[in-house]
Amino acid sequence: MPNVRIRLLEDVPPSEAGRLASQLAALDVLPEQRDFSGSPASVVKRGVDDPTRRTFVILVERTDGPPEPVGVGALHPDAAGRSVYPGPHVLLRGLSIDARHQGRGIGTAAVTLAVELAARVAPDARAVVLRVHRRNAAARRAYARAGFAATGQSIDGPTGVEEVMVRRLDGRGTAGQGAGVLGRSGAGSQAAR
Ligand SMILES: CC(C)(COP(=O)(O)OP(=O)(O)OC[C@H]1O[C@@H](n2cnc3c(N)ncnc32)[C@H](O)[C@@H]1OP(=O)(O)O)[C@@H](O)C(=O)NCCC(=O)NCCS
Repeated sequence: MPNVRIRLLEDVPPSEAGRLASQLAALDVLPEQRDFSGSPASVVKRGVDDPTRRTFVILVERTDGPPEPVGVGALHPDAAGRSVYPGPHVLLRGLSIDARHQGRGIGTAAVTLAVELAARVAPDARAVVLRVHRRNAAARRAYARAGFAATGQSIDGPTGVEEVMVRRLDGRGTAGQGAGVLGRSGAGSQAAR
């Protein structure tokens, strides 16, 4: 089971940024997944264009070298609760894992870590909220394993019907504090239900 970490791009020192940018540019999702998410590079670009989106990189530890970037995601605090959830919350957006690394538990682990990071970047937030394409069974499964539940709300998104899922932050085991790099080994064992 891969040992997964996530790290905010804003915490990456300039000396590492160039190498990381070229590594992220080499990642991509499958063509049939483009309705669900853009490429990791496009998610990063959206974060550059809108710095209120706190973009994070998903890394897998290696025994023979530095951690390998395999995907990205973004946390978008909505303090006013203007979108699909009333009250302060964080939107989890653009989760995108390179096709060669999918199906190994990395997505589930990264979502669990993203919930902990959300509690740290937006201490007043009451929930992490996301929209997921109804046809995106793998993502819905990863979110459910990380403790998200469907609200029953559906939205007409740009490429089809999307469902709203929520993970409350006032429950048990969600308010992770600490270092800029969060880490976790494996996926299933830490899924908060
Ligand atoms: C969605 C995504 C982030 C999941 O990441 P991942 O590393 O592949 O996820 P995991 O390996 O943790 O698998 C999650 C679950 O989905 C299941 N799954 C994988 N592919 C599946 C499929 N085609 N249909 C149904 N379930 C599937 C896995 O079996 C696993 O469930 P399990 O733990 O009960 O076995 C990744 O597939 C991805 O980047 N997809 C393209 C972009 C995208 O869809 N982003 C989400 C936008 S909301």
